[in-house]
Amino acid sequence: MEAIIVGAGGHGKVVLEILRAAGGVQVVGFIDANPSLVDTQVLDVPVLGHLNVLPRLRQRKVHHAIVAIGDNAARQSYCQLLQQHGFELINAIHPSAVVSPSARIGKNVVVAAGAVVGTDSHLADGVIVNTAAVVDHECQVGEFAHLCPGSLLAGRVTIAAGAFIGMGAKVIQCLTVASGAVVGAGAVVIRDVPPAITVVGVPARQIQTHQQNAG
Ligand SMILES: CC(C)(COP(=O)(O)OP(=O)(O)OC[C@H]1O[C@@H](n2cnc3c(N)ncnc32)[C@H](O)[C@@H]1OP(=O)(O)O)[C@@H](O)C(=O)NCCC(=O)NCCS
Repeated sequence: MEAIIVGAGGHGKVVLEILRAAGGVQVVGFIDANPSLVDTQVLDVPVLGHLNVLPRLRQRKVHHAIVAIGDNAARQSYCQLLQQHGFELINAIHPSAVVSPSARIGKNVVVAAGAVVGTDSHLADGVIVNTAAVVDHECQVGEFAHLCPGSLLAGRVTIAAGAFIGMGAKVIQCLTVASGAVVGAGAVVIRDVPPAITVVGVPARQIQTHQQNAG
């Protein structure tokens, strides 16, 4: 199957290598908004241009795509655009990840090397479970949430849409991190996190700033 990757940055490279390791998908090009990347190669794959090339790709019978952008809102809007152009969104699951047979996984989901997705968990569309992150049993991870490398969710945790769980952060069992919330790197969450706030530290407490350093 031929596919394109939208986003030729760091996360795009990671997703390319996941697809290569998993096999079955031939990546024919990257799409990226950065004009200086057009007609260059990223890890031996050409950067074809921006959204204006999508109709040409559809004529070439390229039907599949994955959006590889770390920023949650940008990833969501590009997924919508691609679907409007008739592309089918695919997943990138690294062969070294352990995904429970009872886990349910949406579209445009990335599960990176060494990650674990536990029993009866649900990853909605657009979720990133990054390198070595752990989603334990019966977790619900909402649309376009990002679990950064080494983050840990205990059992029955709910991560709502668009939330961002920083590197190495931990969320204890049965809690909810609400929509758009940011959990800083290394935090330990021991209470529910309200929507669209940032928490950091051990135990995690709210801070006033709110920028997603999604990398
Ligand atoms: C939480 C975070 C989003 C805050 O970013 P920010 O809004 O730019 O905040 P600032 O850097 O201005 O820091 C604000 C305050 O919070 C503190 N702080 C920021 N991040 C912190 C963290 N992870 N743990 C503890 N304290 C932290 C800062 O020291 C600062 O404290 P001060 O006001 O006493 O000086 C960011 O620091 C972070 O942890 N991002 C996660 C990065 C990550 O995991 N990347 C992986 C990409 S795949």
